[in-house]
Amino acid sequence: MVLKIEGIAKAYETKQGVVQALKDINLVINKGEIFALIGESGSGKSTMAELITRLQKPSAGSIYWEEQNILSIGNNGTYRDIQVVFQNPDRSLNPKMKVQQLVEEPLLIHRVNGEERKNKVIHLLNMVGLSEQYIDRFPSQLSGGQKQRIAIARALALQPKLLIADEITSALDPITERQILNLLLELKEKHQMSILFITHNLDILASFADRFAVLQRGQLVETGAISQLFHQPKALYTKKLLDASLIKHPILREKRGLRITTKKEKQEVNIG
Ligand SMILES: Nc1ncnc2c1ncn2[C@@H]1O[C@H](COP(=O)(O)OP(=O)(O)OP(=O)(O)O)[C@@H](O)[C@H]1O
Ligand SMILES: [Mg+2]
Repeated sequence: MVLKIEGIAKAYETKQGVVQALKDINLVINKGEIFALIGESGSGKSTMAELITRLQKPSAGSIYWEEQNILSIGNNGTYRDIQVVFQNPDRSLNPKMKVQQLVEEPLLIHRVNGEERKNKVIHLLNMVGLSEQYIDRFPSQLSGGQKQRIAIARALALQPKLLIADEITSALDPITERQILNLLLELKEKHQMSILFITHNLDILASFADRFAVLQRGQLVETGAISQLFHQPKALYTKKLLDASLIKHPILREKRGLRITTKKEKQEVNIG
């Protein structure tokens, strides 16, 4: 276990009153696993990412990273083990910095030296499928998908032990998306990196994630192995999520190892 979340709650104070974004969350993420966090818009997924990365403080509960309470870890570079990429790359990219500086910045902060740094930047760009030619561009001169890949390269620069990926592939075309998912799988296999993968796209999870958790209005309604999600979902809400988002054609679903629900679907697959 690398990350342990115990009794976490988060309430936001707004002019309209208190928004209870998370309630009594208990969760563990193991070393080298891909943990999928799913749930509809507003269910509290990004709030969870913000609490783990200390962008927000919980209203109650504790978060432990390698058995240390994260609220007691200092700010002086010790928190490099956990990195996050958000859905909107503009949130993490300074528009006044060129790609070279953007990818280099975390290395500079952690004092990786000059020549090594330049090579590392190029290596990181290649990892996310971008060539050296982008090095002198500003974020405004890149497409949404390219910006997202720069944000991923930046997060990977320090070889984090936990990467939190909050809807990171929604701006990518299917080929680039597959490339990024393969990269994450490789980092998991080679470096035992853990990934908290927040997504709406359940379809990609069957062959990608190890375990999952479902959030509904700030509460955890189900956790389990990814096969449970597709074959034996327990909570009614999980079933609803699956039905609302999965590929409709039963033959395609069968091919992807997904759930077949009705008798008619079973017959259709047998015929196909
Ligand atoms: N800074 C904030 N101040 C007040 N309320 C907030 C704040 N951030 C989030 N919320 C509220 O908390 C709840 C959870 O929001 P959150 O962004 O965590 O949801 P989400 O699951 O990430 O949704 P999405 O899938 O749309 O990204 C929502 O009701 C949201 O309006
Ligand atoms: Mg969100």
